[in-house]
Amino acid sequence: MSTLDRIAALESEATAAIAASASVDALAQTRLRYLGRKSELPLLLRAISQLPPEERAAVGAAANRTRQTLEALVSAREGDLASGAISAAEALDVTLPGSPPLPNGHLHLITQTRREIEDVFLGLGFQIAEGPEVELVEYNFDALNTDATHPSRARSDTFYIDDETVLRVHTSPVQVRAMIAQPPPLYVIAPGRVFRPDNDATHAPQFHQIEGLAVDEGVTLADLKGTLLAFARQIFGDQREVLLRPHFFPFTEPSVEVDVSCFNCQAGYLRDGSRCPLCKGSGWLEVLGAGMVDPNVFAYVAEHGYDPERVTGFAFGMGIERIAMLRHGVPDLRLYFDNDLRFLGQFGAR
Ligand code: PHE
Repeated sequence: MSTLDRIAALESEATAAIAASASVDALAQTRLRYLGRKSELPLLLRAISQLPPEERAAVGAAANRTRQTLEALVSAREGDLASGAISAAEALDVTLPGSPPLPNGHLHLITQTRREIEDVFLGLGFQIAEGPEVELVEYNFDALNTDATHPSRARSDTFYIDDETVLRVHTSPVQVRAMIAQPPPLYVIAPGRVFRPDNDATHAPQFHQIEGLAVDEGVTLADLKGTLLAFARQIFGDQREVLLRPHFFPFTEPSVEVDVSCFNCQAGYLRDGSRCPLCKGSGWLEVLGAGMVDPNVFAYVAEHGYDPERVTGFAFGMGIERIAMLRHGVPDLRLYFDNDLRFLGQFGAR
């Protein structure tokens, strides 16, 4: 093969190799192989003096042309690879909106409602306390003045883990934990999940409560009523009134059920004279249970600074699902947990 033929062969071989170099690094290797100081083409140029004089000019010119051609191909390929690298990064730009843009989503109605209720009580000076969902029987029942014969302790009414441990049936055990953790004055709310073996349109095996506890010297039922009135007006509208009806809970004495005046009607009747479907014509909506902390509950934590002769307190507990059902006219509790976007999407961030 003549030297000129060899140069032509090298050029076509190198041209293919440059085009096939898939990365900047691979291209640098290709360049070294065909144009590097120890590669064949410069060696051919250096060996020109050994050729017959009449061939030297043509070989020299061909080798130089090939070198320039290959250098140009390398830098063009370099440019392609560099801009390709940028556009690959752009294709993965996670800040671009997508096509079609995906909806952002929003907080679940229960989370929104929990946060709104928390904000009301934080504004009144309460702090948030939390406790475990798997709770001691002692804190779930005994410390709350609920003795072993109480029906709610039956295996059919509470999920037992073992003889000493349950899935808490209410957030009230957080009252006990908060008092053990901190002496009075104590103003806490405790949001969280609770569990009961029930399942129908108005009862779910898992739901959410918010507990409230205020302990101080001289706390009275009037303080409870004023606190709940402030809550009712912020959550259900500023014309609301509250009604306390006698009730029973083992851990409060006296105990009350608390109604809020219906925000959907006037004293039970709509403008057209028909009976209000929300309050069923009563004019009142039952929203929560409450009462004055039973001295026996303080006696249980007396060594932590809760002398039943010195401090008094009130407590309340509400179901978050129920508050949201009343406010938004949700007909079935199970809708909250079905994850059907036709339902959940109606409660987008407002
Ligand atoms: N723990 C009660 C329940 O789950 C509610 C409650 C809390 C009542 C605090 C009184 C005081 O029904």
